[in-house]
Amino acid sequence: MIEQEIAKRVEEINQIIERYLPKEEGYQKTIFEAMNYSIRAGGKRLRPMLMQETYRMFGGQDAVIEPFMAAMEMIHTYSLVHDDLPAMDNDEYRRGKKTTHAVYGEAMGILAGDALLNYAYETASKALGQIDTKPAVGIAFAVLAQKAGVYGMVGGQVVDVEADKRGETTIAREKLDFIYHLKTGALIEASMKIGAILAGATKEEQDCVEQVAEKIGLAFQIQDDILDVTSTFEELGKPIGSDEKNQKSTYVTYEGLEQSAKDVEQLLKEASMLLATIGKDDAFLQELIRFLVHRNK
Ligand code: IPE
Ligand code: IPE
Ligand code: MG
Ligand code: MG
Ligand code: MG
Repeated sequence: MIEQEIAKRVEEINQIIERYLPKEEGYQKTIFEAMNYSIRAGGKRLRPMLMQETYRMFGGQDAVIEPFMAAMEMIHTYSLVHDDLPAMDNDEYRRGKKTTHAVYGEAMGILAGDALLNYAYETASKALGQIDTKPAVGIAFAVLAQKAGVYGMVGGQVVDVEADKRGETTIAREKLDFIYHLKTGALIEASMKIGAILAGATKEEQDCVEQVAEKIGLAFQIQDDILDVTSTFEELGKPIGSDEKNQKSTYVTYEGLEQSAKDVEQLLKEASMLLATIGKDDAFLQELIRFLVHRNK
């Protein structure tokens, strides 16, 4: 049931994203191809899905959410393109296909990431600048920028890379939490918060949604670490054992597989309970959170 509903949503989200992708023409055609290649390779589309559903939960009905959904997936995809580069995790497969740098070369991989990041703002800014633009649109734009940057995803990746390059095998648990909160939590927080902001949720509701998303983000990354150990390439569409290869200390190295799985379940239970306190009773969002506990890809 939930799987079918998710598949339907992914289809709907893909159609929205598709409308914002660049045309593959002109002297810089290669970059458009590389951008579209990485976006069209697939992916779970979890962030735009959370954004759209949070928007709906607070009564949002406009198309204003759409450029933000596309922008979020562009930023997320750029983060993966760069994360896979030889200088970072050095992975050859992503979303069941060769990584962007493996197909287009390293320089174009770097540029495709840059391009997607910038194009994300070009896309989101389509919701700005009209005569009747609501102030919420500007606020949502600021959240997108901030959570993607050095106080968000990029900041988390910096500490993640330093921790593994220095071979910090005994990285402090506090630092690990910091990394997870930023590298993965930040974009999930931005997704749900932007949905809430654009739908006109109160400040208290926005804060609550951000806390829910923080828990989802942490659980999501722990599960990603678990799957890096327990899953298969066929299922994940990306190489397993990437963390071990890079000698990363992950949540799993800290807590072990069994405890990590318990913590995922606990965090998502907390997220679900906190979400319920908002009193909007969003059945799909609750089901999606339950589904994430057992996700296998
Ligand atoms: C992968 O994110 C990177 C992490 C933050 C764990 P996803 O697991 O959402 O990747 P796609 O979008 O489905 O490929
Ligand atoms: C990446 O974490 C988080 C990002 C911001 C891209 P990982 O390095 O564990 O993600 P995967 O396993 O390559 O998808
Ligand atoms: Mg990484
Ligand atoms: Mg990686
Ligand atoms: Mg991983």
